[in-house]
Amino acid sequence: MDERAVRELLAALTDSAGTPLLAEELITSVTVEPGWIAVILTEQPVPRDVLVRAHSHLSAACAGYEVELRCGGRVFRGGYGFGAKRHVIAVIGGKGGVGKSTIAVSLSLTLAAMGFRVGVLDGDLNGPDIPHMLGVHPKKDRQRGAWPRERVNAIRAPQSRRKPYQRWGLEVMSVGFVVTERAPLAATGRWLVSSLLRNLIFDVAWTADIIVIDAPPGTGEEIQVMVRELPLSGAVFVTTPQDLAQMDAERTLAHLREHDVPVIGMVQNMASLSCPHCAESIDLYGASTRLEDAGVRVLGRIPFDTRLSVTADRGLPLVLGDPRGPVAYEFARISASVRRWLADRDQQLLDAAAA
Ligand SMILES: Nc1ncnc2c1ncn2[C@@H]1O[C@H](COP(=O)(O)OP(=O)(O)OP(=O)(O)O)[C@@H](O)[C@H]1O
Ligand SMILES: [Mg+2]
Repeated sequence: MDERAVRELLAALTDSAGTPLLAEELITSVTVEPGWIAVILTEQPVPRDVLVRAHSHLSAACAGYEVELRCGGRVFRGGYGFGAKRHVIAVIGGKGGVGKSTIAVSLSLTLAAMGFRVGVLDGDLNGPDIPHMLGVHPKKDRQRGAWPRERVNAIRAPQSRRKPYQRWGLEVMSVGFVVTERAPLAATGRWLVSSLLRNLIFDVAWTADIIVIDAPPGTGEEIQVMVRELPLSGAVFVTTPQDLAQMDAERTLAHLREHDVPVIGMVQNMASLSCPHCAESIDLYGASTRLEDAGVRVLGRIPFDTRLSVTADRGLPLVLGDPRGPVAYEFARISASVRRWLADRDQQLLDAAAA
């Protein structure tokens, strides 16, 4: 396989009138390396169905190659973007401190226990918490402050991608591994945020089938980029049942819907507390139904449990420390729903391809 052969294959892909789907001038460059074909298209957006057809055409003709199409910064590797039957899901919330990182870690560990290969990506570029929560503290390989530009712009073949860290059976990647945890990089500006996030998804040698992104609070630059530019299969909301938290989440929801990112459901966190004296369950917040009213289904409810915060500081997540406890049980239910949802999404693509 070489560049000319790839260009010929693309030229042969035509619509019913015989016009090439990807005209010669739309193809900026073609790179062929062992096991990898990267086609860079124009900066102009190319319709998704054209990307899908070009990708499946090249993949079918080039067995043994990972095929990647890039177009105006977006990357497409098949499936929903990250690859066939591979998924990127965002754990998102709106409000700060509602438990997104805690839920992202527990969900990832539970999905891994179900047999998936799972990666956790810390999407909080300015306040990365995942390394601390998982107890991963790599010493080497960090640089203070800046993320080198050439790293951001690089398009690298699979064998030269940066390896994620391994912890508790998960693959883990965080901007905190590149800059020190105490001096996080001031990642502001659309260009930097978008390059960093794309790099952390596409230029890391993930073997995971599911990447769980721990999103930062608010609706800032990272969220904008995730929703617009990352290949999200879906999003899981985390909120408390408080109306204020759900109001913030509603704003994020509107944003997701505007960009056609499907919502898998929500986890209500810190919904109740079991009284340490009489074991009675106490509701901690009013029971807002704002998100449910907006059509988001409840995947599960996690009680307030001090062990969740204590174990987070020790870097040993509770679902591992107490795998038979009620919190682990609730996460198993939540993860089973997520697994079913992802299987349905895969089926939808297969149905669309067969139609
Ligand atoms: N169900 C729970 N019971 C007790 N403590 C919890 C629970 N969920 C989260 N916490 C604790 O609450 C704090 C905030 O949680 P976490 O960092 O996961 O929230 P977050 O939404 O990711 O925050 P941020 O918006 O700052 O990223 C942490 O100290 C965490 O350990
Ligand atoms: Mg967080």
